[in-house]
Amino acid sequence: MSTLKTRMKKEINHITSDALERAQQTLRNGDLIGLPTETVYGLAANALSDKAVAKIYTLKERPRFNPLIAHFPNAAEAQKYVHFNEWAKTLSETFWPGPLTLILKKKEDCGISLLATAGLDTLAVRVPAHPIAQLLLQGLEFPLVAPSANPSESLSPTTAQHVKRSFPDLLVVDGGSCTVGLESTIVDLTGNIPVILRPGLLTKNDIEKALLLTLGDKAESNVIKAPGQLKRHYAPSIPLRLNIKNLHEGEALLSFGPHTFTARKEINLSLTCNLEEAAGNLFAALAELDSSQYKGIAVMPIPNDGIGLAVNDRLNRASA
Ligand code: TXA
Ligand code: MG
Repeated sequence: MSTLKTRMKKEINHITSDALERAQQTLRNGDLIGLPTETVYGLAANALSDKAVAKIYTLKERPRFNPLIAHFPNAAEAQKYVHFNEWAKTLSETFWPGPLTLILKKKEDCGISLLATAGLDTLAVRVPAHPIAQLLLQGLEFPLVAPSANPSESLSPTTAQHVKRSFPDLLVVDGGSCTVGLESTIVDLTGNIPVILRPGLLTKNDIEKALLLTLGDKAESNVIKAPGQLKRHYAPSIPLRLNIKNLHEGEALLSFGPHTFTARKEINLSLTCNLEEAAGNLFAALAELDSSQYKGIAVMPIPNDGIGLAVNDRLNRASA
C-alpha cells in the first residue's frame, strides 16, 4: 500500500501536554471539543455518555436519526465494542490507522450511547491516523464519537479556523490542515458482501484489492444506506454549477487543471490535475468561495475515477 502512504502526506503535528490535558479533561467532564483528524475536523464527545452525545446533536442541529462514528486508538479497542469478521480483520490490518470507517454489528451492552447509534444494531468504527487524535484517544478511558465539526448540511471543516468560525465557544485542538481533506471511506461489512456507503480517499479498488473480492453495489444492497447520506449535504449558501463549459457573469470559478477562463475570483483545486491534491483542497476552496459577493460557484469538470469519485460525490451533494 505504498501509494496510500504517499497519498497521505506526512505532517508533523505538535500539542503541548497542557493543551492535551485540557482537551481530555473537557471530554471527561462530558463536554465537546474540536478534534483534528487526517480527514476532517470532528466534533468529539465521550461515546459512552448520553448527555455528552446529546450535545453534539444540539450544537450541530443534526437529525437524531443520523448515527455517529466511534473513534478508537487501535483495532483492539474497537473490538471490545463490535464483532469483527474476517473482512474487518483484513481491512483494519491493511488500512488502520487511516481514513476508513467500518460498519459492524454492535456488541450487546457495549455501552455506546444509544443516541450515537440512532437505535441501530450496528456501529461505525474508525481508528484515525492523525497524531494528535491518536494521543488524545490513547489517554482516554472511553471512545469518542465525532461527526464532522460543521453545522448539519454545511461544509466539513479542514482547519481549526473553520471550526472556530462555526462554533466560537468550542475548545478546538489545532492540528493544522487536514491532510486528506475529505471524510473517511465508509464500508458496510454487515451484509452478504461488503459495500461502500461513502466514497473517500480509499477507493473501491483499494478495498477490493485488500479483500480479494468484488464489492457489492450500494443501490442493490440489502444493507441500510448511511442515513447521513442525504442527497443535500456539504452545501455552500450560494448556487453551485458543476461540469461547466462556460462561465456566467458574477460567478466565482473553482477550476481543475489548466484552462482559458477568466473569472473575478478563482481557486484551482490542482494545477497539475492531481486528484488527491484536489480532494485535499475541496472543502477549504468551497468555504472560501462561499460568499454573497458572487452569484454562484462554477466548477470545472473533474475526472470521475479514483478519488475523483469522492470529490464528485461531495460536489453533487453540494449542488443538490
Ligand atoms: O472522516 C470522518 O469519517 C469524519 C471524521 C471526524 O472522523 N467523521 C464524519 O462523521 O464524517 P459524520 O457524522 O459527518 O458522517 C458519518 C456518516 C454519516 O453519513 C452516518 O449516517 C454514517 O456515517 N453512519 C454512522 N453510523 C452508521 C451505521 N451504523 N450504519 C450506517 N451508516 C452509519
Ligand atoms: Mg458530516
